[in-house]
Amino acid sequence: MNGSESLAKREQWGSRIGFIMAAAGSAIGLGNIWRFPYLVGKDGGAAFVVVYLIITLFIGLPVMIAEFAIGRAAQKAPVLAFKSLGVNPFWSLIGWTGTIAGGFLTLSFYNVVGGWTIKYVIASLTGLMDVANAGNSESFFGHFVGQSYEVVFYQVLFMLVTMGVVIGGVSKGIERACKVLMPTLFVIMLILIVRSVTLPGAEAGLKFYLHPDFSKLTGETFLDALGQSFFSLSLGLGIMLTYGSYIGKEENLPSSSAWTAGLDTLIALLAGLAIFPAVFAMGFEPGSGAGLSFITLPAVFAKMPAGVIFSCLFFLLLFFAAITSSMSLLEVAVAFAIEKFHMTRKKALYSMGIIIILLGVPAATSLAGYPTIYGKAFMDAVEYVCNNVLLPIGSFLCAVFVGWFWLPQAIKEITNDGKLQFRWLNTWIWCVRFVAPIAIAYIFYAGLKW
Ligand code: TRP
Repeated sequence: MNGSESLAKREQWGSRIGFIMAAAGSAIGLGNIWRFPYLVGKDGGAAFVVVYLIITLFIGLPVMIAEFAIGRAAQKAPVLAFKSLGVNPFWSLIGWTGTIAGGFLTLSFYNVVGGWTIKYVIASLTGLMDVANAGNSESFFGHFVGQSYEVVFYQVLFMLVTMGVVIGGVSKGIERACKVLMPTLFVIMLILIVRSVTLPGAEAGLKFYLHPDFSKLTGETFLDALGQSFFSLSLGLGIMLTYGSYIGKEENLPSSSAWTAGLDTLIALLAGLAIFPAVFAMGFEPGSGAGLSFITLPAVFAKMPAGVIFSCLFFLLLFFAAITSSMSLLEVAVAFAIEKFHMTRKKALYSMGIIIILLGVPAATSLAGYPTIYGKAFMDAVEYVCNNVLLPIGSFLCAVFVGWFWLPQAIKEITNDGKLQFRWLNTWIWCVRFVAPIAIAYIFYAGLKW
């Protein structure tokens, strides 16, 4: 065994605030700024937001507490965590689906979109506004993704930056980067909001975003909201479980979870506030799906005074958000390789990085038409399977495990051996035992379609 990593004392976060920044950095990502607003646009505006908030409070947050508790108790990444808790080996399944889906599949498409953000920061400075002003932002995007080599180039670049941070380890790499990037992200977001809501005609966007029309709800809305909540909170793949394994024993898990989930939700809500008023003020439609950030927004910025600056800031924001999340995804794969194959961090990082880059290539090229899986582009198919199938299953299993098979130990872990008062303990128990499993199972059954 190469003992230097595996026998050494497990690394821990440097401080409480550093840990919360890292967890929020993982949670706050493309999911909040790119995906949440386009789902709001597609699924009927404010009604979706309401469903999303309820699901996050009663399902997402309790599952996050559960993941942190398992991770801290086990002191291991997901695959070995359940073994180290000494429970039925069946539960290791959570670790395997999490690591395979999380570390590998999710990151493979995440990188591709992460790469787009770099491309768009550069493009913003080099003529994107003129193109968009001439009404060509859609063909610009189509042309970009149609040329696979460029998409692959940016995807690899994005992954290399991620690797460059993760090599520094948990507290010196990930935590340090997040402590700088997260506050910066927040400031950029505020600038964009002020610009957006002060545009003439912004009210229509505010109304769409803040006035719910519940007649627009469908089964799909619920599944989208559920998948989005897990995706946005980084749940279901053992990411928070892994991050939990680096938390000190004296830390207050429920309060850290509330901070993480709260910041994540705040940023998603603010992203909508930055985007919808501007979209409506400039006379565009919000329902353009995944193209909202990359097609509609450049056109919106192009019509604003000093649009270059706002466009550049927006894509920089998206890049910061994406990179702190991709670090967390890569960390799970790396922690897995270190623990399972006893590799050094460096070796684990290089081998996992290469595998993930290779997996991302079909995702990148599928935007140009090939490969497809049962009629969906490879990237869309992977995204669908991850978000709407694997994340709910992973979260379901976590909730059932903690609620029905490990509850006394979980309570001990959450209350730090009884030293800590957790006011909502009974509500939490109720959520992991009943609300989360039943709701996930039902929504899953009702909303799933290819
Ligand atoms: N939460 C991130 C986002 O909103 C993405 C992400 C990072 C993620 N780690 C994850 C999603 C783990 C699911 C599971 O963009």
